[in-house]
Amino acid sequence: MNETSSQTPSHSPAPEALSKQPANAYYARHIFFCLNDRKNGEESCAQHRAQEGFDRCKTQVKAAGLAGAGKVRVNKAGCLDRCAAGPVAVVYPEAVWYTYVDASDIDEIVESHLKNGQVVERLLVPSHLGR
Ligand code: FES
Repeated sequence: MNETSSQTPSHSPAPEALSKQPANAYYARHIFFCLNDRKNGEESCAQHRAQEGFDRCKTQVKAAGLAGAGKVRVNKAGCLDRCAAGPVAVVYPEAVWYTYVDASDIDEIVESHLKNGQVVERLLVPSHLGR
């Protein structure tokens, strides 16, 4: 057993992710979905099916056995201030920003990035897009 595997549960999606983190790291990866819902008529992620994306991600991560300590956590977030690209989600520790349209996009993020550590280039938020 090497040093990385001694820190990581056997079902970890990405042992290398934990090995690069502080000793008290709890999740290998953490994805935050903006679910902000502006009531003033301005655009926000909630108007672009963000809740569906979040729900799909939670379901798929759990179904794949990726959820839990040493693995992956899926969390709700308020506005992440990148509204122009909404709906958005961000994956840490890599700080990779995604946008998505449907369930297949979420499934690809789960399988490729959250499970295997491979960034889904086609879903990246362009770096110039902010609020
Ligand atoms: S409303 Fe989602 S990033 Fe601002």
